[in-house]
Formats: sequence, C-alpha cells, structure tokens
Amino acid sequence: MQIIKSIDGLKRAIDKITIDDRDIGFVPTMGALHSGHLSLIRRAREESTTLIVSIFVNPTQFLEGEDLDNYPKREESDRKICEVAGVDILFMPSIDDMYSKDELSISAPSIRGYILEGTKRAGHFDGVLQIVMKLLNLSRADRAYFGKKDAQQLALVMQMVRDYFLDCEIVPCEIIRDEYGLALSSRNAYLSDEQKSRAYQISKSLKRATQLVLSGRLESHDIISNMRLVMSDIDEIEYISIVDRAFRPLDTLEIGNSMILVAVKVGGVRLIDNIWI
Ligand code: PAF
Repeated sequence: MQIIKSIDGLKRAIDKITIDDRDIGFVPTMGALHSGHLSLIRRAREESTTLIVSIFVNPTQFLEGEDLDNYPKREESDRKICEVAGVDILFMPSIDDMYSKDELSISAPSIRGYILEGTKRAGHFDGVLQIVMKLLNLSRADRAYFGKKDAQQLALVMQMVRDYFLDCEIVPCEIIRDEYGLALSSRNAYLSDEQKSRAYQISKSLKRATQLVLSGRLESHDIISNMRLVMSDIDEIEYISIVDRAFRPLDTLEIGNSMILVAVKVGGVRLIDNIWI
C-alpha cells in the first residue's frame, strides 16, 4: 500500500497505473475507520482493480461549535486496517493542500441541502460537496462508495454527479450495525455504555416502524408517534421524517420508494439512522 500525502504524489501514482488497471474504486473517509467503512472498502476492493481510500477530516463541513477539533483520530490503526483490506493507495492530504484562500465554492441545492440534516447544520452539505468534488477529481474514480447511513449526503452527492456531469458512478452501500442494532459511526466512540444502551432504541424504533408497515399501517404520523414511544429514553429527538427517495415528505409511506430518517442526541452525541422501505 502506498501512503500518499501530496496531490502531486497522488497524480504521479495514478499516472503510473497502466490503463488496463485503471479501473479505480474510491472510498472517501474522515478516518477513525470502523466496520462500516471496512464494508465499503471491501466492496470497492472486490469491484475495482485499483482501490484508493482517502482520510481527510474536512473542516468546511463542520459548523462552528461542532466537534472538528475533537474528531477522533486513529492514524496508526487506520493505516493497518487499509493495509490489511488490500487498499492500493491511502491518500492523506493536508488542509493547505486541499483548500486555498478565496476559492470557488459549491453550494448544496437550496431545498434538499437545507432540510433535515441541513436545517440544524446549514452549510454542512456545501462543505461535503466541495470536498467530495475535489476528491472525485483527484482520485479519478470510476466508482465511489458511500454508506446509506448518511442518506442525505448520498442523495446530494448523486445529484452533484448528475448536475455536473461527472464521470463517476456513486455506489450506495448498506448500513452496518453492531450486534444490538446501533448503526456504526465514528461518533459512537463518544458514548458511554449506559448511553449506548439507550441509543439502541433508535434501531428498535426503526424495527417497530417496519413491523407497522408490514401490518399495513402506512400513515406517517402513526408510524412516527409509535417510533417516539419506543425512543422514550433518548435525550432529544431532533427529527423523525418519512420521505420519498427524492427527499419529499410523505403523509403516507410508499413501499419501495420511502425512507424513514432519524436524528437524535444521546448524552450530547448526535446520532443519525434510517431505513429504506
Ligand atoms: O461521510 C464522510 O465521512 C464525509 O462526509 C466525507 C464523504 C468523507 C466527506 O468529507
């Protein structure tokens, strides 16, 4: 595995790959890799001749007061995970390499970028799209792998690829959960055991929603109020939202075209989860 920290280094490394091997799978990450990332990396490994993973804690997607400085950093173990998973190039650029002063910026769409995750974190998706655009260009990825857990991020990246005619396929990957159903996230590291046991109510509420749907109860308000009952020990429910795959709110869930999205806080840690129905 090559560890590359400069943009020129990455360019040179990709130029050296023979055209036959230049079928590039790319997994962008912010490090602190867990089994969720690993499942993206494994899938990309299976489907690509060259596999590039990036680790870059992107400052522009953190708002003031968010956990940028405390974002977990595990460089040594991240390297090992990538090495063992068969990554060809681990790209770890610096902030100065990735950003310049007064640069051109990309804005998230004014509706889909500013609802749900975009309401409380206005500007967050501008930063995500800005960095993903840069990373897709630098990696020259044929395919880039994103988790369904960040469903809105995934939808916006797909939209950016469409709107800007980028030549890259975005591959959505399933949510990976721990043995009790908690969706894996780097932020889970901040949870105490007690907080974790309360956080399990998030996936329980999504399971309850699935049961209701299977029994024919499709009204969004009914599903949402039942989910709230299940999450009785969660400190704060920021939102539970039932939308279609284009992120339009639904009064009645449409099987095969719906997502139930949840954002909560447990012990000050913000957690999101969702299910696609
Ligand atoms: O999902 C993430 O980890 C980040 O938002 C991403 C896609 C790596 C961009 O910084």
